[in-house]
Amino acid sequence: MNNAAELKSCCAAAYESDFARLLLGDSFHPGGVALTARLAELLAFEPRDSVLDVASGRGDSAIFLAGQFGCRVTGVDFGSANIAQAKARAEQAGVANLVRFELGDAERLEHPDASFDAVICECAFCTFPDKRAAASEFARVLRPGGRLGLSDLSRSGTLPAHLNGLLAWIACIGDARPIEEYVAHLADAGFQSVSVEPHDDALAQMVREIQGRLLAAELMVKLEKINLAGVDFDEAKSMAAGAAGAVRTGVLGYSLITARKPCG
Ligand SMILES: C[S@@+](CC[C@H](N)C(=O)[O-])C[C@H]1O[C@@H](n2cnc3c(N)ncnc32)[C@H](O)[C@@H]1O
Repeated sequence: MNNAAELKSCCAAAYESDFARLLLGDSFHPGGVALTARLAELLAFEPRDSVLDVASGRGDSAIFLAGQFGCRVTGVDFGSANIAQAKARAEQAGVANLVRFELGDAERLEHPDASFDAVICECAFCTFPDKRAAASEFARVLRPGGRLGLSDLSRSGTLPAHLNGLLAWIACIGDARPIEEYVAHLADAGFQSVSVEPHDDALAQMVREIQGRLLAAELMVKLEKINLAGVDFDEAKSMAAGAAGAVRTGVLGYSLITARKPCG
């Protein structure tokens, strides 16, 4: 197995774990569904839209978009447990007629050219080892004039050394890039009207919540109320503290990025 494939599998497995659910709930991105709603507003979703949600996690955003706007949404994720849970949650939410979830790789989508009106990808582009390939796949599957909405962590300056390991990569920090680099990837893939809206406050809030949930989880483990074998709480707390510091000093940020595929 090569490193890139291992990274993607590790990332998917981490987000399928009970620990991730405990720390993050069902929505795996800063700002939760409220920031998905803002992205949807920027992309002006309508019932007739066919939307691809790349790296759809547990399906929270796809289910929200179908329920709120009545659009058809296809979610793609690298993790099979995520896909199974997203399908079950769509059934429970009563939107299974509008939403489908498929196993797939953002860097090699299996959908035909020009098959979607919009593509979203929340808090995942920064984890893709080949961001150039993913950006050109977004462009390929969009119809001419189609809209793209990303939300992602960005980095300006150097991260502290302990935020450079595998865990940090999986937590979307380790390979977070300067926002200009994401914009350049989209421009290279042919996107136009690329626009950035900062939401660093949502990231700061998420890190604070994770710090609180980490302390609670550690206490529950000590009281033998839950079993989280293999979790290194000291490492996780030190990473969360490092992330909080990096957000405070502006090294880590979070933004919505929208763009459009040219019409002709
Ligand atoms: C931070 S979570 C975001 C999930 C979802 N977008 C959300 O906001 O709730 C990152 C997701 O990316 C998925 N992922 C990682 N690499 C992927 C790839 N190459 N293709 C598709 N999904 C991938 C993981 O399985 C995980 O569900």
